[in-house]
Amino acid sequence: MKTLKLNSKNKNDLVTAADILKNGGLVAIPTETVYGLAANALDAEAVKKIFVAKGRPNDNPLIVHVSSLEEIPPLVKEIDPRLYELAEKFWPGPLTVILKKSDAVPDVVSPKLDTVAIRMPSHPDAREIIRLSGVPLAAPSANASGKPSPTSVSHVVDDLDGRIDAVIDGGECAVGVESTVITLATEPPTLLRPGGVTVEELESVLGKIAISSAVLEKLKDNEKAESPGMKYKHYAPKARVTIVKGDFEKYKKFILAQKTSVCAVCFEGEGKYFENAIEYGVENDGSSQAHGLFDALREVDESGCETAFVRCPSISGVGLAVYNRLIRSAAFRVIDLEINIPVIGLTGQTGAGKSTVARLLEENGVYNIDADYLSRIAVENPEVISAFAENFGDDVVVNGSLDRREVARRAFSDPEKQKKLNAIVHPEVTRLAVEEIHKAEKENAKAALIDAALLFESDLTSICSFTVSVVADKETRLERIIKRDSISREDALIRMNAQKSEEYYIENADVVISNNGEDLNTEIKKVIEKI
Ligand code: TXA
Ligand code: MG
Repeated sequence: MKTLKLNSKNKNDLVTAADILKNGGLVAIPTETVYGLAANALDAEAVKKIFVAKGRPNDNPLIVHVSSLEEIPPLVKEIDPRLYELAEKFWPGPLTVILKKSDAVPDVVSPKLDTVAIRMPSHPDAREIIRLSGVPLAAPSANASGKPSPTSVSHVVDDLDGRIDAVIDGGECAVGVESTVITLATEPPTLLRPGGVTVEELESVLGKIAISSAVLEKLKDNEKAESPGMKYKHYAPKARVTIVKGDFEKYKKFILAQKTSVCAVCFEGEGKYFENAIEYGVENDGSSQAHGLFDALREVDESGCETAFVRCPSISGVGLAVYNRLIRSAAFRVIDLEINIPVIGLTGQTGAGKSTVARLLEENGVYNIDADYLSRIAVENPEVISAFAENFGDDVVVNGSLDRREVARRAFSDPEKQKKLNAIVHPEVTRLAVEEIHKAEKENAKAALIDAALLFESDLTSICSFTVSVVADKETRLERIIKRDSISREDALIRMNAQKSEEYYIENADVVISNNGEDLNTEIKKVIEKI
């Protein structure tokens, strides 16, 4: 199918769009929130095409768009008087209200539900197209299902060119995130999706409202979604996104310490510090962040980076809507850098006595975190497993677990896959480590230590206050390994020679502990003092 490119500056193009809609076709139209993929809401066959074009799960209901209040009564069972109060204050605008539906609304619009979502957009082109077509328009965001919503016509074309009848260019969307969704079918009314109209604004009309748990949290496996759209993976670019909490200084240190090239999605004025940066609005200004968010997420993919770390928005006002979208694009992965105890990165060559040092520090009130263990549980996370399936093929998952050896084999022979592997595993290991550090804080530990054989090759140094290498003479280490692992001298040598040199460990560390039979307690003091 060839997609007709229309422009709302030409009056005739609006008429053409309306004609296509009247005849059961699909047209992507601008609204003040995001572009919508519209069809005649009263024509079940037309509405079905929306789901096909977007690849949208067919139990996810659609919003019906109207251009005036008179169009609403036929769509609903009865008018809740609070609808008029809301309309008075927020319509036309970025608010969707859910009411009990009438029989005129075909089942496909809100499958298996007795409700319908209604919105009167403020974008003049959207309202004019509805008026000209003479029917209410069902319209989800005009993106391919799962992708960030489109805020400019080029986003729509990227996702849906050739799959829909027409797209009409009406400029950039002012709000940038989808409408606030509130249902009047519960008592009190429940916020299902935050957006440009804030909780505070809604409560000024409705009194106290409930907030669906899906707004900020992941649904439990068996939990029913009040708003079906909230259960799907959403707003996600191809790159792996992680939210980073904490002030800019912490964020900056964290990003600059990453070993591979990552994309820093940050606030205005911050990008100049990074090699790859995309700015998405002003710090503490939810509206400007909302405006830039989806464009920034799409740009991440254009940057070619596999990993994006996004500065966390403030979670109030319109910022709640920004956070709600981001947390889904990040599959709920958040790293909270607000850490108030020192974090020690501990490493050393095999046989140098790293574990002994870790144990002694533990006796001195330091919380011990084993990086090896974290990398094992990182790949047990179901979201991580499905990312591997998506990028390495379904056959790397056997009985629900990751075939780590097969993944390693595929990554070994393919540098692109190696990058993907790192992008999937590293942020998750860092997240787990930071979670452990916060646990240490709660337990009033003096400090936390991350015990990692490959500390300097990993991204864990990005969360360390300082690093410690344990070193020992070759002969001493050799004897220890032979004894510890009951292996031959030859095998022990092979293992030792596969590692980096002693100089490497000394050069990279802030503190060096020598463990050739000296009094270790004196050596440990160097670390305790630094804490
Ligand atoms: O700003 C917007 O709302 C944009 C523009 C195009 O108007 N539209 C939009 O539609 O974001 P969509 O389909 O991407 O998101 C609609 C959300 C989904 O999360 C869906 O589950 C929810 O609204 N929804 C729709 N009807 C519902 C209903 N009857 N009950 C509960 N949730 C409903
Ligand atoms: Mg959508």
